[in-house]
Amino acid sequence: MSDLIQRIRQEMPATTAHIYLNTGTFGPLPTCVVQAMQEYLQAEWRDGRLGAASFENMKSTYDDARAKVARLLHADASEIALTDNTGEGCNIISYGFNWHEGDEVITTNHEHTSALVPLFQIRNRYGVVVRTADLGPVAAEPTLTAIAGLVTPRTRLIVLSHVTWTTGAVLDIAEVARMGRERGIPVLIDGAQSAGAIPIDVKALDVDFYAIPMQKWLCGPDGTGALYVCKESIDYAAPTYVGYWSIKHEEGHSEEMELAEGAQRFEVGGRQTAALAGQCAVLSWLEETVGHQWLFERISSLSAYAYHALKALPGVTMLTPRPGASGLVSFLLEGRDVNYPMPGRQGLVAILCFNSLHLHACTASASQDATSWERDALHWAY
Ligand SMILES: Cc1ncc(COP(=O)(O)O)c(C=O)c1O
Repeated sequence: MSDLIQRIRQEMPATTAHIYLNTGTFGPLPTCVVQAMQEYLQAEWRDGRLGAASFENMKSTYDDARAKVARLLHADASEIALTDNTGEGCNIISYGFNWHEGDEVITTNHEHTSALVPLFQIRNRYGVVVRTADLGPVAAEPTLTAIAGLVTPRTRLIVLSHVTWTTGAVLDIAEVARMGRERGIPVLIDGAQSAGAIPIDVKALDVDFYAIPMQKWLCGPDGTGALYVCKESIDYAAPTYVGYWSIKHEEGHSEEMELAEGAQRFEVGGRQTAALAGQCAVLSWLEETVGHQWLFERISSLSAYAYHALKALPGVTMLTPRPGASGLVSFLLEGRDVNYPMPGRQGLVAILCFNSLHLHACTASASQDATSWERDALHWAY
């Protein structure tokens, strides 16, 4: 085991206590997150939350968190809003449009509930029509073809994942975004399984909105996440909730509210600043100590390794379309016809989440006894 891997594992005690394969749900916390959170809370406890210095400290933690997310996504800090999780980012955009009855949204048959339910809400509330592009059973069909076939003059938004949580497929979101630009349809990306697992350059992808969590592949604290809102696309959506942080506070400003110029207008404020300090710490650690390029290559090589090793086992049918494309690997196990609530994909037994450091079966099985066969099936992994 290389020195770097050893150091990384020491920084994450959960990866030595277990065979940790749960990163697609909750990644293991590195020590630097816990330390940063503790230090922030202890300073508040010791010195009190008083005066301008305390406020400035809080503000600079918020600013730092936005700046670090911006670097990860290759965006400008003014294009980042802090959120609680991916689902919040999806809600902000889905609710932000000025919907009219009969407007249409396109999504796919591989989306997670957290991206879909805001669409169902706007369908129920405003009469928006939700169209579902069929990417096939494992999300291997060409994304653009499936989506473009559903575009009509009433299409106002396209919502899809960068990496499907069902099979770990990487969707060609750049092609979809290009089509969206040509036809004036903005694109919202669910980045829950991509952020921290594969490289993301929102400018090169040219998407309008990109929602990410911190608690999965970025190994950050619960209740932290972010939403990228492209500068040029900000007027597509209006903030549904507003508060102190959503508006300008310049000297001589009238009492009448004026929304902040950038994505910060989508923040209400009142966040857990200690968690933001933890978010900053892990983003620095991943960038400076682990190294983004190393991380993405390692995730890819471990996930390809797992794919081929699983494929060689009797009774295993791989669902992941391209080995090593992302951190998720999914497969069917013969005789385990689970009743997982995923349209058209009865029988998905487990999604394996591999990152550079650890692996743990993220059980998507309805059967609670999956652990024993997972252990057997995955015995080879260590
Ligand atoms: C593709 C996808 N989107 C959204 C979510 C929900 O993420 P969050 O808890 O950050 O809202 C998940 C969680 O597993 C997911 O896999």
